[in-house]
Amino acid sequence: MAKPSRAYVCQECGATSTQWAGKCPACEAWNTMVEEAGLGASGATGGKRSGKVIDIQSLASGSANTERIITGLNEFDRVIGGGLVPGSALLIGGEPGIGKSTLLLQVAARLAQADGTVLYLSGEEALSQVRLRAERLGLGDAPVGFAAETGLASILRTLENGKPPQLIVVDSIQTLWSDLLESAPGTVSQVRMCSQILIQFAKRSNAALVLVGHITKDGQIAGPKVVEHMVDTVLYFEGETAHQFRILRAIKNRFGPTDEIGVFEMAGDGLREVPNPSELFLGDRDAASPGTAVFAGIEGTRPVLVEFQALVAPSPLGTPRRAVVGWDSSRLAMILAVLETRCNLRLGAHDVYLNVAGGLRINEPAADLAAAAALVSSFVGHALPSGCLYFGEVSLSGAIRPVGQMALRLKEAEKLGFSTAVVPQKLDRESRKSGIELEPISHLTDFTATLAGTGESGANVS
Ligand code: TYD
Ligand code: MG
Repeated sequence: MAKPSRAYVCQECGATSTQWAGKCPACEAWNTMVEEAGLGASGATGGKRSGKVIDIQSLASGSANTERIITGLNEFDRVIGGGLVPGSALLIGGEPGIGKSTLLLQVAARLAQADGTVLYLSGEEALSQVRLRAERLGLGDAPVGFAAETGLASILRTLENGKPPQLIVVDSIQTLWSDLLESAPGTVSQVRMCSQILIQFAKRSNAALVLVGHITKDGQIAGPKVVEHMVDTVLYFEGETAHQFRILRAIKNRFGPTDEIGVFEMAGDGLREVPNPSELFLGDRDAASPGTAVFAGIEGTRPVLVEFQALVAPSPLGTPRRAVVGWDSSRLAMILAVLETRCNLRLGAHDVYLNVAGGLRINEPAADLAAAAALVSSFVGHALPSGCLYFGEVSLSGAIRPVGQMALRLKEAEKLGFSTAVVPQKLDRESRKSGIELEPISHLTDFTATLAGTGESGANVS
């Protein structure tokens, strides 16, 4: 047998080098190269040098056998595209303490209660701890198989000895280790190797595999990107630990959409599903203060109403502060530049703070108008009408451009009792039929002039 090769592996990006370096030659991160033993000539393949003739089949014949496993936790099922796909692998990342273990225990217990077979492998918590949590969640009687095991060889042996479960949860992939490698658990090679072997097992046995992955300081799933490439679905569980809202977001999904979100609320008895997030996000809003505007956004297939909050105040500093939470900072810079140049608002000497209430992150350009409305409202010190909402993309010229799914946004707003909407001029026929009073505007100046009360109303409904 050949001597195992030695290599230095970057713990950030997974790049390998035969020599140690202070700075990774690939991703240029400092102090991330760690010596890890590579595979010998025999390795994961079992040392077979010669291959075998593979059996080629036609894609057209036979059925796909993708009957999904419905876990019963609706928000989770929806985010992954309608339940778990047998034989698939899913990676779920999130900061420590965000609720990954709680979520997966709830998923496992729901499935077990519905007569599914589940194995929950924990490398982080002991049986008594997980039992305590299950009791707290009111799921103490769910027949979930549990093992506090981290050795991959024993896990595989157990799994292959008997009927494989429908769902295998591994909490977390960073705690597993394979004796095929000398490196410590949690290193890039171990994470990669253990994931690969488990994924192969899942494919062979048709079990759905869920891996928990820790994330690094800058929000990436620890271990190389290659784990994200190996799995079928990557989810992030996010939210502010100080807030009770938690958002489950699909980043990659081979079996469903990637723009879907699931909203949960962390309560004393575990995660509660939030079927109507808008009500939650707008729950304790203070509509009477200047600087708040409601945006009707779309997250996946669902409309979600959120509040943009802005604070614009004269700055004591030479270079004013610009801080933004929940939105893109370069987008904020663009809106400020448009307000300054096209609408003659002198914002240059002001500190600007912008926040999306509730811990949601908005990526849609459709939010431009709501952000601008909140900023202008704070700047002039007038509160916006309380039953009014905003959406529309702002171009660099200040023109308001139409956005997608306007009728759906308006419908949600109507359901939640909003009476008016400031929207782009170019509306589709369906949106015009909305029960909400529409105030179409074609340029940002229409809006700023109305708010400052200096011009004639921009509400020229067509
Ligand atoms: P946990 O699932 O252990 O997080 P992760 O696995 O992502 O590290 O969640 C731990 C946090 O959730 C902890 O700070 C306490 C809180 N929590 C509740 O508020 N209610 C509950 O019912 C449970 C089980 C946890
Ligand atoms: Mg955990």
